[in-house]
This record gives sequence, C-alpha cells and structure tokens, in this order.
Amino acid sequence: MRAVVFIFIFLFEILSAKTPFISNEEYAKMLYKNPRGIGCHKCHGERGEGGFVASYINRDKKKITLIGPQINNLSDISLKRFEEVLDHGTKLMPKYFLTSEEKAYLYYYLAKQKQTKKRMANVDTKK
Ligand code: HEC
Repeated sequence: MRAVVFIFIFLFEILSAKTPFISNEEYAKMLYKNPRGIGCHKCHGERGEGGFVASYINRDKKKITLIGPQINNLSDISLKRFEEVLDHGTKLMPKYFLTSEEKAYLYYYLAKQKQTKKRMANVDTKK
C-alpha cells in the first residue's frame, strides 16, 4: 500500500514538472520588474504608462525633471527599435543583457498593457 502511494506521488511530481510553473503573462510581468538590472517599472511605470524618475535643481538654479516616457504605445515602436534600446541603452536608460526571447516577452507584456487599458476605457464610457 505504501509503495502505491509512493509511486503516485512520484508520478504526480513528474507530470507537474512538465506543465509550466507560471503563465506567459506572469513570466513577462516578472521580467518587466526584474530584468537582471533595475526594473522597467521604476522609470516607465507599472504598466509602461510613463513615470517620474527624479528632479533636481541644476547649476543655473533651474528645476530639471526626468521622466521615463510611455512605452506601452508599441505601435510607435518596432520590435527592432525596442531591442536596440534594450541592448544599447540611451543617455538616461541603462543597457540590459537580455536574450531575444526575453526581449520578445517584454514587448508582449507592454502590448498587453495597452490592450487592457483600452478595454477598461471602453467599460468606463458605457456607464
Ligand atoms: C533609469 C530609468 C529607466 C529604466 C530602469 C528603464 N528605462 Fe527605458 N527609458 C528611460 C528614459 C529616460 C528613456 C527616454 C530616452 C532617454 O531620454 O534617454 C527611455 C526609453 C525607452 C524606450 C524607447 C522609447 C521610444 O519611444 O523610443 C523603450 C522601448 C524603453 N525605454 C523600454 C524600457 C524597458 C523594457 C526597460 C526595462 C528592461 C526600461 N526601459 C528601463 C528610462 C529608463
């Protein structure tokens, strides 16, 4: 009897290892927040809607505000351009060391965010 239970547990372990542990959405979101470096959300907001980074007073006593631009408007950014930005960084943005697959996941995540927002907007206008 004990042996049967044992085999059962063993089989269950094997089968559950084959099914993915997290969904694509969850994986993409995790990568967005932890892309082996500073999380994208810190500068571009939780959903890529853009966000405040920092502000300071420069030498001419002018207040400078740094913002991370909106990046969930992907129709404006091709996957090629997206990959370039991530591989090389920009003046303010760090570069990342991500595989093509990881970059595709991030692109996918941001495209999804825009869709969700649109759906939510539609719901609002019906009221
Ligand atoms: C330290 C803040 C910071 C972090 C972290 C950051 N970015 Fe950026 N990103 C910027 C800024 C600022 C710009 C605008 C270009 C500039 O002024 O340097 C930018 C530009 C971009 C652009 C180009 C937008 C366009 O219209 O051309 C994309 C795409 C982008 N970021 C994606 C990401 C992704 C994906 C991550 C996470 C892997 C990320 N960024 C992390 C600050 C950041």
